[in-house]
Amino acid sequence: MQQHQIVDKKNRPLQDLRISVTDRCNFRCPYCMPIEQFGMDYPFLEKDNILSFEELSRLTRIFAALGVNKIRITGGEPLLRKQLPMWIKEISQIEGIEDIALTTNASLLTKYVGQLKEANVNRLNISLDSLDSERFKKMNGVGFDVQSVLQAIDHASAAGFPIKINMVVKKGMNEQDILPMASYFKQKGHTLRFIEFMDVGNHNDWKLEHVLSSKQIVEMISGEMPLEPLEANYFGEVAKRYRYTDGSAEIGFISSVTNTFCDSCTRARISAEGYLYTCLFATSGHDLRSPLRDGASDEELMKCIKNIWNGRKDEYSALRSQQTNNSNKKIEMSHIGG
Ligand code: GTP
Ligand code: 5AD
Ligand code: SF4
Ligand code: SF4
Repeated sequence: MQQHQIVDKKNRPLQDLRISVTDRCNFRCPYCMPIEQFGMDYPFLEKDNILSFEELSRLTRIFAALGVNKIRITGGEPLLRKQLPMWIKEISQIEGIEDIALTTNASLLTKYVGQLKEANVNRLNISLDSLDSERFKKMNGVGFDVQSVLQAIDHASAAGFPIKINMVVKKGMNEQDILPMASYFKQKGHTLRFIEFMDVGNHNDWKLEHVLSSKQIVEMISGEMPLEPLEANYFGEVAKRYRYTDGSAEIGFISSVTNTFCDSCTRARISAEGYLYTCLFATSGHDLRSPLRDGASDEELMKCIKNIWNGRKDEYSALRSQQTNNSNKKIEMSHIGG
């Protein structure tokens, strides 16, 4: 396929593709799939409505031809999708794809570490919001034990995966976990990233007063363990990087509310049902599944995606006011995986 590099209305290139391979999750985090609303037998998408691996590979090839070099695999919980490693291995061979990362809650990771390594996954980002056994059980909504997650992290690290830990911080939920998390992962040498609680989806009853800012967290940590800032690893990196002055580990801050990063947002997202979203906060997506299944050629699909990206103006976080947008229903986090 001929290679192109495309930019949107704000001159942002298309570089990353985040693919949600399933809308299912075995956790029920209260800020994403609250158990009261989702239950354990929630009607998730039917299998026929989810893109097949063949369809996903085709789209990945087309996106790579349009400049994408980074793939992030998300969910729901991506490891719930059967045969996932086999498919990842296939897309790792696509010309232009340089980095494949997986975002997971790690509940099933121990079982898949070997297969993911074999499938050429480059790195893992693991969601973990508390080290406290009881609080973690409550926060994942299904009573899952934190020790299993910590063991999975050790396994993945021993297998050679670079690991980042993502911790969503919400006032009144887990601010007491900030220092224990920082100290644990400093000692382990893994990069811990704090994410400001965001108004994504329609279920988390977001309010600005729930947000603990990165600035406050930096102050809290550097009071105990001195930090120094680092340069970004790449254009458009979401996390602001720091390291401990003793050189033990890196740490990152994702200031999605107080210091937004829309100006350099190079990310496109595909939901499990095959819709393309040009922003995490989009209220609607672009149906790629219909043309895929109606026999569109690669050239037609490419043109369609190019047009969507060329017309992109999204900068939701940068324009967010004190108030979240509740008037239009937003896409669920569990459909596009953050
Ligand atoms: P790296 O490639 O390792 O730098 O990963 P990443 O930070 O791009 O991906 P990850 O899935 O680990 O993202 C962590 C969190 O950052 C997500 O769960 C979101 O909460 C937030 N985030 C990532 N991308 C965006 C974005 O485009 N907009 C906003 N508002 N938040 C984002
Ligand atoms: N704000 C910030 N991050 C969130 N995530 C889920 N919901 C939110 C929210 N409201 C994070 C998860 C995980 C990633 C996929 O998205 O904790 O790290
Ligand atoms: Fe929690 Fe992630 Fe599952 Fe949502 S998709 S319930 S944030 S583990
Ligand atoms: Fe990109 Fe939208 Fe997030 Fe801004 S709010 S960084 S445009 S995904």
